[in-house]
Amino acid sequence: MRPPSENNVPLAKTMTLVTGARGALGLSICQAIQAEGGNLIATDIQPDAGDSLKLGRNDQYVSADLTDAGSIKTLWNTVEDSGLRLTGLVNNAGVGLTKAFEDVMEAEIDLSLSVNVKAPFLMSQGAVKHFRNKGIAGSIINIGSVGSFVGTKHYSVYTMTKHAIAGMTRSLAVEVAPEGIRVNAVCPGPIWTPMLAEAAANTLGVATPEEVAEHHGVPRGKLGQAQDIANAVCWLLSDKSGNCFGSLLTCDGGYLAH
Ligand SMILES: NC(=O)c1ccc[n+]([C@@H]2O[C@H](COP(=O)([O-])OP(=O)(O)OC[C@H]3O[C@@H](n4cnc5c(N)ncnc54)[C@H](O)[C@@H]3O)[C@@H](O)[C@H]2O)c1
Repeated sequence: MRPPSENNVPLAKTMTLVTGARGALGLSICQAIQAEGGNLIATDIQPDAGDSLKLGRNDQYVSADLTDAGSIKTLWNTVEDSGLRLTGLVNNAGVGLTKAFEDVMEAEIDLSLSVNVKAPFLMSQGAVKHFRNKGIAGSIINIGSVGSFVGTKHYSVYTMTKHAIAGMTRSLAVEVAPEGIRVNAVCPGPIWTPMLAEAAANTLGVATPEEVAEHHGVPRGKLGQAQDIANAVCWLLSDKSGNCFGSLLTCDGGYLAH
């Protein structure tokens, strides 16, 4: 067992790579890390960082298509060539799919598996290699879902990918824990984002967050916000969660508790 060379670091001294940074949750996660003084490598398939994400002096944006293993390799080469000491990875990029089981096309299965499962796997391989080479007790956060635990009608492909995230989180956590590297997941319940609005319209025929909360019987009586997920991610990135290895932290207004 190798003792971690870096621990007890405040978030302010960290450098975190966030995937899906242009999306609803990704943007909020990036902003929350910045608000705590952390530095960022933000990445998304979009060509640039867009208007909402304000990059600081030590932040950078790298465009990458995570369905392409070559693109992921180039992303890690960029990190290594910059001489950066990355302390965290947030595997947030994801695609949703809401369709009746028999209507799902093979290409849709392939895309979902590629973005939601294979990409976090390959990204985590890059992160573990980086942490080991630099002797960093880094932290990997995977964004799962309540779909990491339960099934929902018309969500078979999405649920399959998020169950896979639960399995990968646990297995990798066990493998790298002796090195002080922590792997955990945040599992959001329904959060009112464009991804959820589209799914709600397609599957439930409802158009408001209140209707979605009522439909699912969310005990809190309302949906969570992107900021709720960002707060959970920041906590798991920080040393305050230093005894969490392989945790699947639900953040769902009680969705799974009833
Ligand atoms: N919104 C919710 O209610 C909810 C609930 C549970 C879990 N989640 C999970 O949270 C994460 C973020 O969801 P969101 O609601 O912000 O979705 P979103 O669609 O707003 O953001 C997803 C981001 O991933 C990026 N992306 C997609 N394909 C990519 C690719 N091939 N390469 C690189 N980037 C790619 C998109 O460009 C987008 O910016 C996802 O993993 C999702 O499954 C969301």
